[in-house]
Amino acid sequence: MYLVLARKYRPKNFDEVWGQKTITEALKKAIKEGRLAHAYLFAGPRGTGKTSVARVFAKSLNCEKGPTITPCDKCEICRTITAGSSMDVLEIDAASNRGIDEIRSLRENVNLTPSNARFKIYIIDEVHMLTDPAWNALLKTLEEPPEYVKFFLATTTPEKIPPTIISRCQRFNFKPFKDEELTERLKEICEKEGFTIDKDALKEIYEFSGGSMRDALSILDQLIVNAENNNISYQSVKEFLGLVEEKSIGELLTLIREKDVKKLLSLFHTLLSEGKDPAVILDGMIKKFKDILFKRMIDKSEGTVSEEDKHLYLSFNDINTETLLNAVSTVIEYKNRLYMENIPIVLSEILLIKLSHILGKEETLSLKHPEKKDEGLSSEKRSVVKEAESIFSPGKVEKEEPPSDKADKEEKAPLQSEEEI
Ligand SMILES: Nc1ncnc2c1ncn2[C@@H]1O[C@H](COP(=O)(O)OP(=O)(O)OP(=O)(O)O)[C@@H](O)[C@H]1O
Ligand SMILES: [Mg+2]
Ligand SMILES: [Zn+2]
Repeated sequence: MYLVLARKYRPKNFDEVWGQKTITEALKKAIKEGRLAHAYLFAGPRGTGKTSVARVFAKSLNCEKGPTITPCDKCEICRTITAGSSMDVLEIDAASNRGIDEIRSLRENVNLTPSNARFKIYIIDEVHMLTDPAWNALLKTLEEPPEYVKFFLATTTPEKIPPTIISRCQRFNFKPFKDEELTERLKEICEKEGFTIDKDALKEIYEFSGGSMRDALSILDQLIVNAENNNISYQSVKEFLGLVEEKSIGELLTLIREKDVKKLLSLFHTLLSEGKDPAVILDGMIKKFKDILFKRMIDKSEGTVSEEDKHLYLSFNDINTETLLNAVSTVIEYKNRLYMENIPIVLSEILLIKLSHILGKEETLSLKHPEKKDEGLSSEKRSVVKEAESIFSPGKVEKEEPPSDKADKEEKAPLQSEEEI
């Protein structure tokens, strides 16, 4: 049977867990010294080993040869935990139905002693998704669990967990993988699978994975299927990941500047239909903004710039540097939220609209709505500028000058002065 790499290479013991040494060492110490808490909270970004560590920990505590820091992985108990079929290690996915039924049955069953293992362990994944009634039910159990019960809670969003729950758990923060940590592991896995991989290819996968081992492995899965001569080249990674060509990114930025929201969203959807990932599109935009800033502030020579970019840079000339920097921060902030909120397309669309409000040329409005040229336009213009300012620097709106003045200033901010910053 073909197993996807993420499952095939799921850590089976603490030593196989990469990049989270502080956590595994602390847990090993606690097991050796028999000093165990009732509840643990594993918090951190996706694909960093929270579920894996929870399962290893469960095996360590319940292995027939345990409690041990090196579970045997052979006994009946270890095997059923790995297979997810242990009667005493129950995995609850709080995201699937927000946990009400599960927590209810947990409360009913928590007082029954384990059927054949030492501990009854509840692994609650995506625990931040629980509803209020489920939290209340869980809290009661967490306050005074029977001594044979352990809770391992895992979450990517600890800030959504009520403090009353957090304070009853021992908390461990998982970190996203660093470049070398992840690429070294990928290289090792490639070797085990009989493939070579280019250095640049590894770097590209790392950047795309955002530090998540699971994401990196699932990319690798697909690259391996398509690899030629058992080698994974930079080119194939680039093609596979559908890295958005610079040209399309330049076009997006131009449409933002032209404030042509209709065309902007339509180009965004074309890119999606070509299989581009919203996160990659936003990445490309971040890089392009960086190029504009770089050109403006550091490298002012003309020679190295393509004609298209020259045009683009020029069109951003009358946007002041602060506004541009704020725009980049907004893109970064949205990019980080994309998958946490699970609505990447909608969020990206909102972002594009927001950017065109903030960076878009006001003249476009007068071209599009000639009938609103006088009064109507200025009020529309004012509201747009006001919104942009309140999004970026709420303090600014309180200034005393009339908004129309501010709009003029913003627009005519001389490039020269920004260059001196
Ligand atoms: N620290 C790690 N060491 C080795 N492999 C890892 C590690 N973290 C993740 N992996 C790989 O990624 C896969 C998924 O990891 P795991 O399910 O533990 O992540 P998670 O943190 O629970 O993610 P999520 O928040 O998405 O549930 C594992 O099966 C393993 O192949
Ligand atoms: Mg998990
Ligand atoms: Zn065992």
